[in-house]
Amino acid sequence: ELSPIDKAKFVAAKRAAEMVEDGMRVGLGTGSTAAWLVRCLGQMVAEDGLNITAVPTSARTAGLARELGLKVVSLEEAKWLDMTIDGADEFDHDLNLIKGGGGAHLQEKIVATASDQMVVIADAGKRVDTLGAFPLPVEVLAFGWQASQALLEETLVSMDVLGRTTTLRMNGAQPYVTDEGNYILDLHLKRIGNARQLALVLNQIPGVIENGLFIDICDRVVIGHGDGTVIVRD
Ligand code: A5P
Repeated sequence: ELSPIDKAKFVAAKRAAEMVEDGMRVGLGTGSTAAWLVRCLGQMVAEDGLNITAVPTSARTAGLARELGLKVVSLEEAKWLDMTIDGADEFDHDLNLIKGGGGAHLQEKIVATASDQMVVIADAGKRVDTLGAFPLPVEVLAFGWQASQALLEETLVSMDVLGRTTTLRMNGAQPYVTDEGNYILDLHLKRIGNARQLALVLNQIPGVIENGLFIDICDRVVIGHGDGTVIVRD
């Protein structure tokens, strides 16, 4: 028996999996909700003969997808995708997102924007009025990361945010390292007044590779609830 939160993630993933059609090239997100999607698709391939090509957004998801018998290729091989299905850390009324809690937002953003459609799957707890309660992940080059951090904090002073602290994401005593070998700074902003502007400004800072704001990228959110009901917003 699933806990209410896992049930919510599962029903959202299952509904999104039903949107996948035979022959599609599908981007697979990263995280616990996306893992449910990979399981659903694995089952549809094994039991219903669904024929799809999958492009994962992390080494973790690639491993799970292969284990479950999905045909996995790189984005380079697939070139363009019909649909990407991924989780999120927050989504707002305009379907703008914070992602990267799992540290994979760089690949996730590249894959999502190389897709005809991005579908987000989430439990209802991810819905917010204003983005920013969840710390915003920013992937930075390890080289000179403190200099990037200082510039970043300086930049935040002029932005429409409430908080200004940034922390280096850790993995035990060592910095957390992304699939691309970079570090992540988590921005504790509390409330992001102008997410569109912040997303642009952050990526201008030397050393910043990609921020976790997804603006105008998501087309549809499939929201799961603990009682098993699902709502689709687009
Ligand atoms: C991964 O980098 C993130 O963007 C995930 O999509 C996000 O953290 C959601 O993960 P959960 O589904 O585990 O909440």
